[in-house]
Amino acid sequence: MQTPDSMPSAPSAATSALAAVTDPMARLAGLLARPVAVGGRTVANRLWLAPMAGLSHVAFREVLDGFGGCGLLFTEMCGARAVPTENPRMSALFTWREEELPRLVCQIAGADPREMALAARRVEDEGFFGVDINMGCSVSGIVKKGAGAALLRDPDAALAVVQAVRAEVDVPLFVKFRTGWTPEVDPAVALARRLEDAGADCLVFHPRVAPDRRTRPPVRAHIRAVAEAVSIPVLGNGDVVLPQDCLDMLDETGCDGVSVGRMAIARPWLFAEWTAGFRPGETVFRDYALALADALERRFDPIRALKRFKSFTIYFAANFTFGHDLQSKFLACHSMDAVREAARTHLRPGLPLVRRPNLAMYNT
Ligand SMILES: Cc1cc2nc3c(=O)[nH]c(=O)nc-3n(C[C@H](O)[C@H](O)[C@H](O)COP(=O)(O)O)c2cc1C
Repeated sequence: MQTPDSMPSAPSAATSALAAVTDPMARLAGLLARPVAVGGRTVANRLWLAPMAGLSHVAFREVLDGFGGCGLLFTEMCGARAVPTENPRMSALFTWREEELPRLVCQIAGADPREMALAARRVEDEGFFGVDINMGCSVSGIVKKGAGAALLRDPDAALAVVQAVRAEVDVPLFVKFRTGWTPEVDPAVALARRLEDAGADCLVFHPRVAPDRRTRPPVRAHIRAVAEAVSIPVLGNGDVVLPQDCLDMLDETGCDGVSVGRMAIARPWLFAEWTAGFRPGETVFRDYALALADALERRFDPIRALKRFKSFTIYFAANFTFGHDLQSKFLACHSMDAVREAARTHLRPGLPLVRRPNLAMYNT
């Protein structure tokens, strides 16, 4: 992508200078902790939270913000039809903390251009940083409605949605998309160019075909192809687990930043760690579990709060050698007090960690 001199994008003078930095964590922080311009606004850094249904909710985002370091937060996908009339005090999805709004993007899903434009209008009126259009979800309930990854089968329909949203709002417009329904990258590259022409300000690209539920590795070369095709920022996404994965994604693809999903749930402090040198203390896992339990209880009714805590344990447990065992302890809890008790009892400092959290364990 092209950016003003004051905001270098990889590869650039700044990144070449950083190539000489030998400490990988310092190099990573140097690459990520740079502002990036999106649609005339500035994002403080280039490491963002990916949208995740049932996971990137207001309670999780509050805990993540406690650690800091995340450039942009994304809501889970919100159905466009519901957004204009949603009550944030009642909704589990379309709800936020006032203080996160300047860094919060609302993801909307839908296929009808008018509905999507009206949803985007509400998003802008509420004061979000921007609006993100979901063109990646391949869950059958979404695809059957022509939304999510179904739009990749019909580029004209995808374009109509982006044009309608662009005509309606001025806030930065993001599109999150995948390779498509076949493994070739050319359709994604062609679509990326058309999305830019239609007014998208930033693309977040997950280089996998739509029916692939993260069982095969993402194709990094495809991120490079998309990033080189457009002049707006392109963020890479997919299977970034360790700092080295993030460095490799930046180095191999020339993308402008990285969007992290599941690993953010496993270790929400990674944003602070990778961008600002934060070093987690030995009680960090217990503190995280307790903070999330508290935040969920403040935001959701007891049944929903407990259910959401249990969804998080899949990713959290992947950190540990005896992860399945640990997860089963949490899954057996019938109340949030029992969760807290389990956290205090079982999340002791020094629990053996796996070197690389097991992706297969949390494939959904
Ligand atoms: C439980 C779950 C829910 C997800 N929900 C969404 C969603 O609502 N919108 C979206 O664009 N992507 C969604 N994704 C995809 C992620 O944003 C991301 O593209 C994917 O997990 C790959 O990134 P990662 O390897 O860093 O997790 C979801 C992924 C997971 C695991």
